Amino acid sequence: MNNVIVVASGKGGTGKSTVCVGLSVALVKQNNRVLLIDCDCGMRGLDLLLDVEEEILFDCSDAVRGNCKPTEAVYRSKNLSELYLMAAPFDTDNEISPSVFAQLVGELKTDYDYVIIDSPAGIGSGFSTAAAPADSALIVTNAEPTSLRGAVKIRRRLLELELENIKLVINRFSEEQFDRLGCYADLDEVIDKAQTQLIALIPNDIRLSAMMQNGVYGLNWSPAVTVFDCLAKRISGEKVPLAYR
Ligand SMILES: Nc1ncnc2c1ncn2[C@@H]1O[C@H](COP(=O)(O)OP(=O)(O)OP(=O)(O)O)[C@@H](O)[C@H]1O
Ligand SMILES: [Mg+2]
Repeated sequence: MNNVIVVASGKGGTGKSTVCVGLSVALVKQNNRVLLIDCDCGMRGLDLLLDVEEEILFDCSDAVRGNCKPTEAVYRSKNLSELYLMAAPFDTDNEISPSVFAQLVGELKTDYDYVIIDSPAGIGSGFSTAAAPADSALIVTNAEPTSLRGAVKIRRRLLELELENIKLVINRFSEEQFDRLGCYADLDEVIDKAQTQLIALIPNDIRLSAMMQNGVYGLNWSPAVTVFDCLAKRISGEKVPLAYR
């Protein structure tokens, strides 16, 4: 995969922001310098997950409007020195155009090994802006029909935007729930429905959620952490297994 990655989903709440943080932390642990950009304008959240909300003075909207230098809107995370965040604006009053955002990321990306962009759910204008600078995409879905329909829609939109390097992340997976739901015979059927190659299968893991919501992800271990480590390696081109149990 290339180095500017947009994390997207058709349906909200599939785990995009969680995947952004888990992947970014794993990439940093593998000696990469990572810029995480919250492009969910009006729904800023990554500052809370990285526990830097008190420090944010400028966001990506300030950077594109010239209220600050782009680098002044980049904040170093508390827990990992090579993980940096550019926050989303609190409101959606001024939409950022795709071309302007692509230019901003183009200027910043040379300082980092990876830029990970968290996008708003759906295929609206906010998503088009988030996807504009990306060379590759991760579609995050849950293994259920409504979420998968969103995954197919977002894939179609990414292809329209000529972003063809797309991989699938199935999040919050539980074998027991999957069997009880009874919608699909097996995971192959899920992958076939999504029409996208699987790159990670992340377990439903309450410890992961607790660490994220408390802003301490990266300091502790949970089953999902191993999967994120493998995802980061796979993104870097290493041939490692999915690591789901
Ligand atoms: N693998 C997981 N195991 C357990 N809980 C998870 C997992 N992934 C995400 N969650 C939880 O699911 C909720 C939604 O996750 P998250 O905010 O990352 O989704 P999102 O796709 O970014 O949502 P939105 O579309 O609103 O931006 C959060 O409470 C998060 O902690
Ligand atoms: Mg989110």
